[in-house]
Amino acid sequence: MPLKDFIMSQRTKIKALLQTNETGFEVTVKGWVRTFRNNQFIALNDGSTNNNLQIVVDFENTDPATLKRLTTGAAISVVGNVVPSLGKGQKVEVKATSIEILGDCDAEKYPLQPKKHSLEFLRDIAHLRFRTNTFSSVFRVRNSLSFAVHQFFQERGFVYLHTPVITASDAEGAGETFRVTTLDPVKPPLNEHGEVDFKQDFFGKATNLTVSGQLEGELGAMALSDIYTFGPTFRAENSNTTRHLAEFWMIEPEMAFYDLVDNMDLAEALLKYVISYAIAHNKEDIEFLTQRLLEEEKLKPQQDRSELSLIDKLQFCLDNDFQRLTYTEAIDILKESSHNKKKKFQYLIEGWGTDLQSEHERYLVEKHFKKPVILTDYPAEIKAFYMRQNEPDAQGRKTVRAMDILFPGIGEMVGGSQREERLDKLEQRMDEMGIPKDELWWYLDTRRYGACPHAGFGLGFERLVQFVTGMGNIRDVIPFPRAPKTAEF
Ligand code: 4AD
Ligand code: MG
Repeated sequence: MPLKDFIMSQRTKIKALLQTNETGFEVTVKGWVRTFRNNQFIALNDGSTNNNLQIVVDFENTDPATLKRLTTGAAISVVGNVVPSLGKGQKVEVKATSIEILGDCDAEKYPLQPKKHSLEFLRDIAHLRFRTNTFSSVFRVRNSLSFAVHQFFQERGFVYLHTPVITASDAEGAGETFRVTTLDPVKPPLNEHGEVDFKQDFFGKATNLTVSGQLEGELGAMALSDIYTFGPTFRAENSNTTRHLAEFWMIEPEMAFYDLVDNMDLAEALLKYVISYAIAHNKEDIEFLTQRLLEEEKLKPQQDRSELSLIDKLQFCLDNDFQRLTYTEAIDILKESSHNKKKKFQYLIEGWGTDLQSEHERYLVEKHFKKPVILTDYPAEIKAFYMRQNEPDAQGRKTVRAMDILFPGIGEMVGGSQREERLDKLEQRMDEMGIPKDELWWYLDTRRYGACPHAGFGLGFERLVQFVTGMGNIRDVIPFPRAPKTAEF
């Protein structure tokens, strides 16, 4: 590190300072002014904690020009003595001996005033919202959760595999990809059929941003046994909901020699591990977010409020086994539910075979079982081509070894399956679903050369962060959300 940077970093973080019981020593602290009152007390925040450090200014001996520049949002450096605090809620404060303004902040123009702003307003100023307690907490929790994901897999001997962001395949076969091209958008070259000639494109073929690293992940698992990916994925689905992003981060483990039960066990263990990691390492933030949610819920009618507080909800999730049942069993429960009979569902459950809507998932999780639920063995028709096929049941209904994990308030958190490792069955399914076998020759090769039972799943990272932070909108748990008509910053 160059000497200058080294000296710049000689400062004490506020979190560490507030934890000390010692006084009577000199420190340097740096941060942003939250408030400055009575020309005497600065509440200083440096993002290491939501708790501000109180700086006591000797205003009689401080240049009035400097006092004037101590506005909300200004970046400052303070040298001073750590002394016991007489104020409430803090053991120590700093008596400033010198204050340097590093960056002024025009109080009139600064969009973040020291008052409550709505989450919608803060989304419009996402470049500044990190400076609020809510978003500082959310992003510190997000950081911890991502570290915990790596720790969980690394402790278990999984290999972190980087799968490509640009691909020529659509792993989910849902046709929701973003095209990647360098062709002239106004006058693209055409082939003899009058179609865009992607042979002349950068990669010599049509390419898109990945919707999932799974297919490449499976290739890794067929040699390394246990791998996981953790990276951004992209979906051009036009879903303007509080659960969907066009760019989201996904964790996709893939394990050789696993069946669906092993897969469910791993997913449940992972979720419990990372949630308990966050509770242990982000206690203050989760307490803050619990309080925030309580206040938000006070504005709702009684029946819409959740029975458990955020922290209790997290603990409840750790203390209970997830409920496991098949899609067919779930349909029976839903069909017989008073909700269905009284026509309270927008989409009534009439028969077997249709996909569950989020209202059905929420009913199962929030009303019926009141805990996370793992649904398995979905109808083959509504799931992706790569899932392992079950023998048809007595009524000839075809299902696949799929699993979805549903969470209270979130809906689908995880989607996964045991994979179809039998070449003939896989090829037959691809034909039925119109998946181009020639383009996926490399995927099919794993079924030709040493195929084995294997399984994996995808965990939507933002949905996990939503659950742990209690934030209602997925756009508030990723720094700069990408969604339909939204790509600012
Ligand atoms: O269920 P999905 O589509 O499954 C897959 O992509 C598989 N290839 C995973 C695998 O088996 N390796 O997506 C997995 C999870 C969902 O359960 C959800 O949590 C999240 O990814 N997800 C989204 N999160 C935010 N915005 C979106 N548009 C999402 N689409 C899926
Ligand atoms: Mg899914």
